[in-house]
Amino acid sequence: MAPGLVCATCGSRFVPDSPRLECTCGGLLDVVLGPEASAPDLRERFDRRRRGGEGGRDFESGVWRYRELVLPGSGPTVSHPEGNTPLYRRAAIGAWVGLDDLALKHEGENPSGSFKDRGMTVAVTQAVRRGATAVACASTGNTSASMAAYAAQAGLPALVFVPRGKVAAGKLAQALAYGARTLLVRGDFDTCLRLARESADKLGVTLLNSINPWRIEGQKTIVLEMLQQRDWEPPDWIVVPAGNLGNTAAFGKALLEARDFGLIRRLPRLAAIQAVGASPFYKSFRSGFRRRYRVKAETVATAIRIGDPASYDRAVRSIRETEGVVAAVRDAEILEAKAVVDAAGIGCEPASAAAVAGARQLVRSGRIARGDSVVAVLTGHLLKDPQAVLDFHRRPGRRANPPREIAARLAEVEKVLRGLAR
Ligand code: F0G
Repeated sequence: MAPGLVCATCGSRFVPDSPRLECTCGGLLDVVLGPEASAPDLRERFDRRRRGGEGGRDFESGVWRYRELVLPGSGPTVSHPEGNTPLYRRAAIGAWVGLDDLALKHEGENPSGSFKDRGMTVAVTQAVRRGATAVACASTGNTSASMAAYAAQAGLPALVFVPRGKVAAGKLAQALAYGARTLLVRGDFDTCLRLARESADKLGVTLLNSINPWRIEGQKTIVLEMLQQRDWEPPDWIVVPAGNLGNTAAFGKALLEARDFGLIRRLPRLAAIQAVGASPFYKSFRSGFRRRYRVKAETVATAIRIGDPASYDRAVRSIRETEGVVAAVRDAEILEAKAVVDAAGIGCEPASAAAVAGARQLVRSGRIARGDSVVAVLTGHLLKDPQAVLDFHRRPGRRANPPREIAARLAEVEKVLRGLAR
């Protein structure tokens, strides 16, 4: 297929530089890669760049290192740089999940503290190339924090739509600090996204939500970088939290391309994990994807508090083509998983912990075998949602670690220390 944009729903084609984000049928558009992607020495190129053996500031980025599969061409990029996130292994987390071979790809260690930076560097670069005058997004928090940072770097005005009262403190603080005009919308995320899409249509701002196909192209590099860190040996499973389904869509696309362009020989299976109170995709999966559901969402994991996911069609394809599964976990399971990840000294935000809770559920139900190799993606940093941490540790509970107030006397410290030594 020639390079361009193709509708994920009806297959219509558009030129690569088309400013459209949607097909005339309302479907979302996917990027079809150009001939650069079929270079026979792709792996060697990527490995050389990762070792620092190919000059150019861009290749310091864990996104632009894979340029042929992301946004070919040699124009300037708006890069922090981003990516290069670690794969952690911690025995305590593996034991809790029930796996010997569990690795955690910590996307919270990106510059703005979430995986969104990977998509944003590409979408903002493309927006600048097309002469955008302002950018906008609806967000549960992380997209807005990331867009605000990259827009500031590019010198573009940024407009953010977030659900009032439902965005974690760290994320809201970032959007304000990086200088985005931040609108607290009286409505949920799904309402914010409708308003942002309408504003893009009618007011000429460039929409940077993951319905923008260039966001998906950047987010593919979570998978590409993980595969490279494993010397191109795929795990059996990749587990990812799922809200608006941009990542689920991106991961499937990345895996199919990695196989088609010769980077890997076998496909891992994808497991997308939702919160029970925000699980329209899980409901659809249970119906064999015969029906699309829309729900009113509620969950402690505000990042994935989404009832009508935009990338639904693309995500269905990802699950089907990787023989994947979708699961849903309760808020209590999310918070327990988070406490386990946090107490191992790694830490993540609640939505990220859904992936770990989901992996545990799938092991317990036998879907994932105990001997399987599994990579779970931690999507956001612990400090994104400090209130969730404080609430958890101030309430009584087995894993709670409440703060203690003391008088400023050594005897009091000694008493505490004796308690710790036990
Ligand atoms: N984890 C975190 C920390 C997120 O911020 C998000 C999405 C997800 C998981 C789900 O990813 O939408 O690709 O399925 N956050 C968006 C935002 C919606 O606005 O920041 P998804």
